[in-house]
Amino acid sequence: MDKTALIIGASRGLGLGLARQLSTTGWQVIATARDPQRATELAAIPGVRVEALDITDAAQVDALPARLAGVTLDLLYINAGIAGPQDKAASAATIDEVGQLFMINAVAPIRLAEAMRPLLNPRTGVIAFVSSIMGSVETGPGMGMSLYGASKAALNHLTRSFVAELGDTTLTVLSLHPGWVKTDMGGAEAPLDVETSTQGLAEQVIGAAGQGGHRFIDYQGEPLPW
Ligand SMILES: NC(=O)c1ccc[n+]([C@@H]2O[C@H](COP(=O)([O-])OP(=O)(O)OC[C@H]3O[C@@H](n4cnc5c(N)ncnc54)[C@H](OP(=O)(O)O)[C@@H]3O)[C@@H](O)[C@H]2O)c1
Repeated sequence: MDKTALIIGASRGLGLGLARQLSTTGWQVIATARDPQRATELAAIPGVRVEALDITDAAQVDALPARLAGVTLDLLYINAGIAGPQDKAASAATIDEVGQLFMINAVAPIRLAEAMRPLLNPRTGVIAFVSSIMGSVETGPGMGMSLYGASKAALNHLTRSFVAELGDTTLTVLSLHPGWVKTDMGGAEAPLDVETSTQGLAEQVIGAAGQGGHRFIDYQGEPLPW
């Protein structure tokens, strides 16, 4: 039977790439975009169902499970993220910049996972949070973009709390680093293209089904230090 994925934040970049990747391997893909009218590349993927969602809009997040009633998710892939004020030192950022960065990258993904959890296949479901190697407390410092890295470290921390509260479950949770990838966020000088990264990411999420537990890995499955 076809597997079903919900990809959050798929209008462009890695989310769009993963939607293409899973769709061509026979998955049913439901993908969200803040503004579906502008997500023309996403809408052009055959069979993809597009839903409107701003991950910071609590009312939209709370309404999503009802909109998808009857769907069983094999994969919930939370990709939405921003770089934030990357040209600024943490101490120079404004309260609005910090609030937006941490809300989008760390808090909203957890709220979304909590809301969508009842729709996941209880035995083999996978919840993937898109993190970053920059969020590793051990290896991230010194790589630049410290405020962004701190937001992904916060995501990792909140994800571990989320997993602790799951209790006894065979759901699998992944915190994923896509590699440094040529996207609007990654920039043109990044060594990886979207296809290479999303091919690897797709292999990781497909292979994780039924394994249980929580791992922080990159797109090639290499374990990363927290
Ligand atoms: N590229 C890299 O090298 C790299 C490395 C490590 C980790 N990552 C992570 O990978 C993920 C994807 O990055 P990317 O490079 O593909 O970035 P991107 O090209 O900038 O795309 C970001 C995506 O997130 C969506 N998004 C942003 N804010 C949102 C919100 N409030 N609600 C819903 N969707 C929202 C965007 O939608 P709109 O089109 O509506 O803005 C877009 O679809 C991010 O979490 C990023 O932190 C990227």
